[in-house]
Amino acid sequence: MIYPIVAYGHPVLRKETEEISKDHPNLKELIDSMFETMYHSEGVGLAAPQINLPIRLFVMDASPMGDEVEEFKDFKRAFINPYITEEAGEDWSFNEGCLSIPGIREDVKRPETITLEYYDENWEFHSETYHGIPARIIQHEYDHLDGILFTDRLSPLKRRMLKSKLSAITKGKVETSYRMILP
Ligand code: NI
Repeated sequence: MIYPIVAYGHPVLRKETEEISKDHPNLKELIDSMFETMYHSEGVGLAAPQINLPIRLFVMDASPMGDEVEEFKDFKRAFINPYITEEAGEDWSFNEGCLSIPGIREDVKRPETITLEYYDENWEFHSETYHGIPARIIQHEYDHLDGILFTDRLSPLKRRMLKSKLSAITKGKVETSYRMILP
């Protein structure tokens, strides 16, 4: 099932998310649908609040970015109840976008390396360290679980410059190839 994507300005994107349990209803179907929704909208990551569910779950697939990078080829994962336990390395800039904020891309600084604990879709526990682009996507999606959007990480000046574009998104005055839920 393809879900519509929640647009910037919707309160669910700012809500505190809750952990889910192993017997969360239709968890496998939900994760499959999140992947389907993400591929349909040509994203590389999707967090549950973006489909109007305030729970600690996100999916990612870095393989579209990995044509030349072997380690991304099979980088498809679901992260349930994730917690970042360590950040390391230098902050670096990378141009980010977000399905909830269509038409805006900006450079965002984040740490190079993270370690996080999570459960996968088979409820196996993992503690793993990621670098580079996968670490980048994970941090962006993880922020969604804390009600943080990439635009929050820009300078006050940059944010002021984006203000009218952001309010246009909230009003639905933006072209997307996927359906959106407006506030
Ligand atoms: Ni996003």
